Amino acid sequence: MSGQELCEMLGVSRTAVWKAINSLKEEGYEIEAVQNKGYMITSYPDIVTESELESRLDTKWAGKAIFYYDVAESTNTRGKSLAEAGEVHGTLVVADMQSAGKGRRGREWVSPAGTGIWMTIILKPSLHPGNASMLTLVMALSVVRACREITGLEAMIKWPNDIVVNGRKVCGILTEMSAEIDCIHHIVIGTGINVNMEAFPEEIKDIATSLRLEASRPFSRALIVEKILQNFEENYRLFLEKGDLSSLAESYNQQMINKGREIKVLDPGREYTGEAIGINDRGELLVRKNDGSIVNVFAGEVSVRGLYGYV
Ligand code: BTN
Repeated sequence: MSGQELCEMLGVSRTAVWKAINSLKEEGYEIEAVQNKGYMITSYPDIVTESELESRLDTKWAGKAIFYYDVAESTNTRGKSLAEAGEVHGTLVVADMQSAGKGRRGREWVSPAGTGIWMTIILKPSLHPGNASMLTLVMALSVVRACREITGLEAMIKWPNDIVVNGRKVCGILTEMSAEIDCIHHIVIGTGINVNMEAFPEEIKDIATSLRLEASRPFSRALIVEKILQNFEENYRLFLEKGDLSSLAESYNQQMINKGREIKVLDPGREYTGEAIGINDRGELLVRKNDGSIVNVFAGEVSVRGLYGYV
């Protein structure tokens, strides 16, 4: 597009266009300028900045406001402060790197720069706090679908909210809530996806993997964010419509790696094994114990493992 056209379209001066082109180049966009013809973007950087995401998203409310940070201690922590400060339902917080990424149960979440998706969505739903844990499963389903669509990999959900590829974890979700006994102030759903890492620290290399390692090619992080938010908006609508996961459980179960497998339920002080049958409409895992009885396992209370390893 010619510089003149850009000036007219945007109502700015030639110098302003030239400055904007330079700042895009600094962000990593490769832009060729051909005399008498104009500018052409020849390559896009793998970035997840506000402008990159805003230019892609056509959602109604998910990610309509975006806060991007080159470095954040944790997007969940930022998300909570922003929610308290009044940021709206659907606000997205993204960081290129987290200096103190948080996993579930107080664990650390390794979040290096330039390779993963570290993002948190702020929700302010009118739900009973007892129903909030289902939202984590809504996000897990949105992520697994996005990963499958974009990479072609057979990504699966490990109940309740890990995404695994070939038995190793590519994504974890951490949901935190601020609520009174009967009313939610806000929920933050933090999603961490290992997208383009080529190696992992020794301590996690046996259980973690990235989409790039599994598919032998890199992926655009912004495209994955875009697809997740699209899916999440639709799945959230289906969730609210019924007030539970009844519209989503079938699809969730189809993509659940534990289904039909022998698992170990790590109930503190009361470990037991059984066959994972699938989730019910509330997202609880139904487990057939060895004596034939069926128990409902609640996410948040316990975790599950495969008999011979992580899945
Ligand atoms: C898990 O333990 O599986 C949950 C990991 C959640 C990681 C994400 S990355 C974005 C958000 N910010 C955090 O500090 N944690 C979550």
